[in-house]
Amino acid sequence: MLNIAVLVSGGGSNLQALIDAKTRGELPRGRLALVVSSKARAYALKRAEAAGIQTAVLRPADYPSSEHYAEALTALLTEAKIDLIVLAGFLVVLPKSFTQRFAGRIINVHPSLIPSFCGPGYYGLRVHQAALDYGVKLTGATVHYVTEVVDGGRIILQKGVEVHPDDTPETLQRRVMEEAEWVILPKAVALLCDKFTNTEGELP
Ligand code: GRF
Repeated sequence: MLNIAVLVSGGGSNLQALIDAKTRGELPRGRLALVVSSKARAYALKRAEAAGIQTAVLRPADYPSSEHYAEALTALLTEAKIDLIVLAGFLVVLPKSFTQRFAGRIINVHPSLIPSFCGPGYYGLRVHQAALDYGVKLTGATVHYVTEVVDGGRIILQKGVEVHPDDTPETLQRRVMEEAEWVILPKAVALLCDKFTNTEGELP
């Protein structure tokens, strides 16, 4: 069984998709062991508590640098014996030392078809506003490995979503979540759990 940590900053609907997948039996080889929030008031924390998952709050403002923040996060993850880290709406950019340490074991969900509308500054509604401004007819979501390049790691899964002529950033964000993010994130986590446990229980 792989211990999974989910890192959040906001509403936590992607976390909820993972909790629901686990409840439905779709994550047989993974345990949602820890939720870490960068914000004390994130609704995601309530979702975690309701599901009986251990929670922690680590606020960047409480640390002098991103390296110090990453050290504290590493200590938490190590203590909880975490095997896989899922960034689900986590709004903190982690330093290279951290992404290298956990290389191949950190994934992120991004609400566009990478390489479109991604990278520094593309988060939340801005991603969907950019897609509407460009006039694309198809957008979607991507689950990818996390490296020091923002949204630049290898792609694991993608799913396309149609843009409607009357879409606003808000309606598009909602459809991308429902039709893509909440579908491919649990699927990608299940795939990685399989990958990491297939070698007779040994982690590579
Ligand atoms: C999602 O759109 C995710 O792709 C992005 O931030 C949003 C987080 O939503 N990285 P939630 O907190 O999971 O509801």
